[in-house]
Amino acid sequence: MQDDDPTQDTAQLDSERNFRLLLDGLVDYAICMLDPKGYVTNWNTGAERIKGYAASEIIGRHFSVFYTVRDREAGLPETALRTAQEKGKFEIEGWRVRKDGTEFRSFVVIDALYEDGELIGFAKITRDITERYKAQQALLESERQFRLLVSGVTDYALYMLDPQGNIVSWNAGGERIKGYAPTEIIGQHFSRFYTPSDQADGKPKRALGIAQTTGRYEEEGWRVRKDGTFFWASVVIDPIRDDTGKLIGFAKITRDITERREAQIKLEKMQRQLAESQKMDALGQLTGGIAHDFNNILMIVSGHLQTLKRSMGADPRLARAVQAIEHATDRGATLTNQLLTFSRRQQVNPERVDVSTLVRSVREVLDSGLGRDIKLELDLAPQTWPVVADVSEFETALVNLVINARDAMPMGGIVRVTAKNIQCNEPSGEFVSISVVDTGVGIANDVVGKIFDPFFTTKPVGKGTGLGLSQVHGFVHQAGGTVTVESEIGKGTQITILLPRAGTERAQTEMHMPQITSGSGTVLLVEDNPDVASASAELLTQLGYAVRWVADAESALNELERNGIDVVFSDIVMPGPMDGFSLAEAIKAKFPQLPILLTTGYSQAAQEALRKYPILRKPYRIHELSRALAELAH
Ligand SMILES: Nc1ncnc2c1ncn2[C@@H]1O[C@H](COP(=O)(O)OP(=O)(O)OP(=O)(O)O)[C@@H](O)[C@H]1O
Ligand SMILES: [Mg+2]
Repeated sequence: MQDDDPTQDTAQLDSERNFRLLLDGLVDYAICMLDPKGYVTNWNTGAERIKGYAASEIIGRHFSVFYTVRDREAGLPETALRTAQEKGKFEIEGWRVRKDGTEFRSFVVIDALYEDGELIGFAKITRDITERYKAQQALLESERQFRLLVSGVTDYALYMLDPQGNIVSWNAGGERIKGYAPTEIIGQHFSRFYTPSDQADGKPKRALGIAQTTGRYEEEGWRVRKDGTFFWASVVIDPIRDDTGKLIGFAKITRDITERREAQIKLEKMQRQLAESQKMDALGQLTGGIAHDFNNILMIVSGHLQTLKRSMGADPRLARAVQAIEHATDRGATLTNQLLTFSRRQQVNPERVDVSTLVRSVREVLDSGLGRDIKLELDLAPQTWPVVADVSEFETALVNLVINARDAMPMGGIVRVTAKNIQCNEPSGEFVSISVVDTGVGIANDVVGKIFDPFFTTKPVGKGTGLGLSQVHGFVHQAGGTVTVESEIGKGTQITILLPRAGTERAQTEMHMPQITSGSGTVLLVEDNPDVASASAELLTQLGYAVRWVADAESALNELERNGIDVVFSDIVMPGPMDGFSLAEAIKAKFPQLPILLTTGYSQAAQEALRKYPILRKPYRIHELSRALAELAH
């Protein structure tokens, strides 16, 4: 009999022992046996390790102790055994309870055991999968949070495309920026966000191609919203690949940076304007310096010329020579004046001016410069707001513009001068807009930035000095306005001046009559240039004044101590520690009653002085000097 074979017994015992060892060695698995009712009959080391009961403590107890109260109340232990019995096997994942009451996540398999067709119990294998479960939960949670994050982000459109470019996901940012709800857009091709011309150009496809081959595509450009409006977008496309490197789609991030772009454009514009105004300031200082020296020279010429004129007798040749010199000095004075207008940033004789009236009053002057083939048309609003400007500068500016228009139309044409009130955003406020429009050759793009520069001209030598528009520029800026150009080659040019509407201050009505009043008394002439001084002294003498001349401010103050001075007539720009303006201040402090007249060919200090003292512009004529001195008496 087999049963009696002792060797077989040993073999079986060995095998059972080995099996026992095997079961106990599986410390990661709780393996136990239950009888058909669910009482524990067998218990391995793994079970002890995982659940905390020693075999002696648990054998004989019902397996439902491993279940939570909740599960027990729900009848889970019974269901488990019944299912195992009916189906041969029951598998479940869930929370189980250790001896110490703590819970662990388990994966349980219960197999029904039959012998000769009869149920003899259950084999139950339990794994502690708490760690794996937690890791899984953490992953799920982070994925969930990530999904929430992506879908909740509203500043960015974050979405995915399949490899063909069809949209497979959509977030709140996409909806906010582009206007589509997820249901409207998922499944559509992303090229619909591109402008029609970009679409025609094949840009969407190219973008995906670049992302795929280089690993990233980045761009700024116009995109289209659902409602058809455009926005300036910053776009990034990244390819997404699986573990094997196969392309599974694209991640696309789009931001609406329209506002940022606009701010940037504005900044760039401001920087350009700043650079422009710095250039103009530098040129202004340069030209102002030249004008100052030049005016002193002109002052000498014209001063002595007037003396010559008075004493030259009746020789007609002399008379012609003097007239020619006078003419040339006038021309020189006009040129330096243009330079000065450009270099000065504030006006010398501001007055309240009605623009339409002024334009109408110079119509003849403008017309006379135009010639037969060119027609002048005025289009003046009946009621233009008053502006504050220097009338003669204004007239000169108009003449300069109209002459330029004429020169641009060698075959003839029409020059229109218009004036109207406008409400403006940039610059903001109320302005009177004055335009001079021609139908001439236009201005090339590479030239248009330079036309206001002093001495910039495209005209042949002797035809243009390049100061016309510099004068216009200077005049406009002194009056607090702006000047702009619009031009198209072959079509014509429009130069528009905007002058700010004047406040309600009272009109300054001043008459400029070339009238000579002789004076009397002693003038203290302060002038560092002896030639200019002698020319000025000559004019003063002719007007009937006695003259005492000093070359600097200090000597002037000494001279005043000696009494007998009725008027001080001083240059502003002088070498030495004190200029004419400081001298005037010093005199005013000491001799408050003493009238002071200042003169200058150019000075930045002139602006400060202007508010306190009358200023005579060099070169001055005898009647201007006479009037300025006469006005001091009032
Ligand atoms: N209406 C216009 N049409 C075409 N080009 C113009 C016009 N106005 C000005 N320009 C261009 O701008 C340049 C500068 O003009 P600006 O009036 O300062 O000087 P100019 O006319 O050349 O000389 P000036 O006025 O001193 O006699 C001109 O040489 C011309 O090239
Ligand atoms: Mg000109």
